[in-house]
Amino acid sequence: MISAEKIPNNVGLSSNKRLQRALEHWQPAYIQWWKEMGPQGFQDYHQVYVRTAVSVDPSGWAHFEYVKLPEYRWGIFLADPVHDRRIGFGDFMGQPVWHEVPGEFRNQLRRLIVTQGDTEPASVEQQRWLGQRCPSLYDLRNLFQVNVEEGRHLWAMVYLLHSYFGRDGRDEAEELLARQSGNRDKPRILDAFNEPIDNWLDFFMFTMFTDRDGKSQLLSLSESSLDPLARTTRFMLTEEAHHMFVGETGVARILERTCQLMKQSGFSEDVRSVGGIDLPTIQKFVNLWFSLSLDLHGNEISTNAASYFANRRQVGRSQRHGGDVRARGGA
Ligand SMILES: [Fe+2]
Ligand SMILES: [Fe+2]
Repeated sequence: MISAEKIPNNVGLSSNKRLQRALEHWQPAYIQWWKEMGPQGFQDYHQVYVRTAVSVDPSGWAHFEYVKLPEYRWGIFLADPVHDRRIGFGDFMGQPVWHEVPGEFRNQLRRLIVTQGDTEPASVEQQRWLGQRCPSLYDLRNLFQVNVEEGRHLWAMVYLLHSYFGRDGRDEAEELLARQSGNRDKPRILDAFNEPIDNWLDFFMFTMFTDRDGKSQLLSLSESSLDPLARTTRFMLTEEAHHMFVGETGVARILERTCQLMKQSGFSEDVRSVGGIDLPTIQKFVNLWFSLSLDLHGNEISTNAASYFANRRQVGRSQRHGGDVRARGGA
């Protein structure tokens, strides 16, 4: 049973029986997915010290506790409403923001939320083996912190789908658990989220570049005319900052160690032979993840992006093949 206590939330879940029932139905499938596709080997026995958001105020979103990962309390949080918020630009500029989904934009908005939502579980799937070969306990905890928050970001998008898109939304929520990163028959929607993340250099590059794209996408969604979407993504941004920190400091630590070893060896030896990662290898990883992440921003000239702007809903990215610009999000 889901209760307000079990799912920390500020959306009045216990007083909305229909929504509560829908999420009750979805939750076991989510847990099943987490156990199968989440961190491998860290499900049943390990108590992990992680941050759990229990409210949106500064003291509440940084609450720490020991949990077994499948028992993490994935919560649903919207940032506080802004009084008399108005649409910031585009065709509807100056009008009050929307608290329900306008019929004419229903499909576009649904696609936008689904594409954003799809990246969240995708990244957990991509990273599921990393715990088996972590460089340190510090890194392991950071990995799991990122993973549980990507899980919570999925909850955030599923909450929107269930609350505002009826039957279609419920179907989409199930599909979000059915697609799988790298799966030939049912891949994740965006290319970068089907790439394997086999090692920690991949992971740090992903959190450095792909989560940075995620932040950029969330920032634009947080300006959405659809107020619940804006408030949901605004709160997600607080967590996204830490993901980027993990990436940036991870890459920096590797570079520093490489430079140390180069110096120690008098710049004569191959860094690899003394246990470092050589600069050309690091550069290759930068090139790969930088370009995969840049691709998520879409084409410069795009009719879809134009209409997203006009309707005050961001933002474009291109499918690598075909150039169809569509909204997306980052992990
Ligand atoms: Fe995320
Ligand atoms: Fe992220």
